[in-house]
Amino acid sequence: MSLTWIWVFTCTLLLQTVHASWWYLGLSSSAYQSTMDSAGINYRSKCTKIAVFAPRQMELCRKSKNILEIISKGASTGIEECQYQFSDRRWNCTTFNNTSVFGKVLSKETRERAYIYAVSSAGVMYSITKACAKGDLHMCSCDTSIRNKETKGEFLWGGCSHNVKFGERFTREFVDTKENGEDPDGLMNIWNNGAGRKTIKSSMRLLCKCYGVFSGSCSVKICWRTMAPFREIGRHLKQKFDGASLVTINSKKSKLKPVDRRIKKPAKDELVYMEDSPDYCEYDPGIGSLGTRGRQCNRTSYGLDGCSLMCCGRGYYTTVREIKEDCNCKFHWCCRVECDKCSKKIEEHFCN
Ligand SMILES: *[C@@H]1O[C@H](CO)[C@@H](O)[C@H](O)[C@H]1NC(C)=O
Ligand SMILES: *[C@@H]1O[C@H](CO)[C@@H](O)[C@H](O)[C@H]1NC(C)=O
Ligand SMILES: *[C@@H]1O[C@H](CO)[C@@H](O)[C@H](O)[C@H]1NC(C)=O
Ligand SMILES: *[C@@H]1O[C@H](CO)[C@@H](O)[C@H](O)[C@H]1NC(C)=O
Repeated sequence: MSLTWIWVFTCTLLLQTVHASWWYLGLSSSAYQSTMDSAGINYRSKCTKIAVFAPRQMELCRKSKNILEIISKGASTGIEECQYQFSDRRWNCTTFNNTSVFGKVLSKETRERAYIYAVSSAGVMYSITKACAKGDLHMCSCDTSIRNKETKGEFLWGGCSHNVKFGERFTREFVDTKENGEDPDGLMNIWNNGAGRKTIKSSMRLLCKCYGVFSGSCSVKICWRTMAPFREIGRHLKQKFDGASLVTINSKKSKLKPVDRRIKKPAKDELVYMEDSPDYCEYDPGIGSLGTRGRQCNRTSYGLDGCSLMCCGRGYYTTVREIKEDCNCKFHWCCRVECDKCSKKIEEHFCN
């Protein structure tokens, strides 16, 4: 009896500590904000004050001057993208002002959790790689090795190609360090962290500039490879969320495999999950569901943002709000625009 209780107690403690995460740096309300902003303190001692860091993360943070700031930027990039991509879904990537950041939605091995890990890992890689290109990190710069790549004489390498190899390696060390590659949770997180980084790599693009004697001519074409805007990465990952693979652990080999044997193994840049998601219709703090009561919905959409799916069949109510907007705008020579203010009524719908 008493042993059982000790066991339960220890597990509860473990669960609470496991979810304290560097993601917390991405919240503008985080308790570390003043530490990060303070100019006086040496960067190495700033890193030491960040209690959500695992030992290896602290070590990496202390390696260079701007890393703490770059990681925080990466974390907030990931969080903001998640909230943008999910703003019209029942689960809308809510964050809480504490070190659990995403709350209990992480307590299950769902698609939501897969997306969170992937987008935040991608956020850090993006931020680190950008910093390399800008010269904000002394340990990396642009990718010069790309200049050895064959171009079939179509163009010359030039400019600053994003050093995603460095970004990927650094981010892997940073974000994967807390994961245990022996247990299902850890394997799933490692996979999805990696999928986030791979998605950046597979959506890179070639930018070029032409030079020539005459304007518009292209006798010399200089090109470099850059990452896609993060919005695009977020969108790709959202598509992967919808197409994620249900996997299970092959305990003999500590590897993930599809539950359905007829389905081929997911590619490294795809998301994997191990448990189906709840419907997030009702308030249930135990599973991280805030429910959709009071959420705005779209009366004419049949999609997930439409009132019938968003409100889970409970129906909705409509309010009318008056807004003022510019109208009858006239252009006066030169250069002034004058408008009247007209009021307009808009209808808004909210879930019961
Ligand atoms: C968030 O929590 C931190 C520390 O727990 C506190 O200092 C801060 O004021 C809180 N911010 C908001 C917006 O509640
Ligand atoms: C974080 O805050 C949320 C909302 O205030 C709360 O439900 C949750 O229990 C908190 N988590 C931790 C680990 O403190
Ligand atoms: C997300 O959902 C919660 C609860 O359903 C709601 O309170 C919040 O306003 C929503 N956030 C956004 C950005 O829509
Ligand atoms: C509601 O959904 C319709 C159909 O999908 C779309 O055309 C419209 O722009 C949406 N309205 C808002 C306010 O998002």
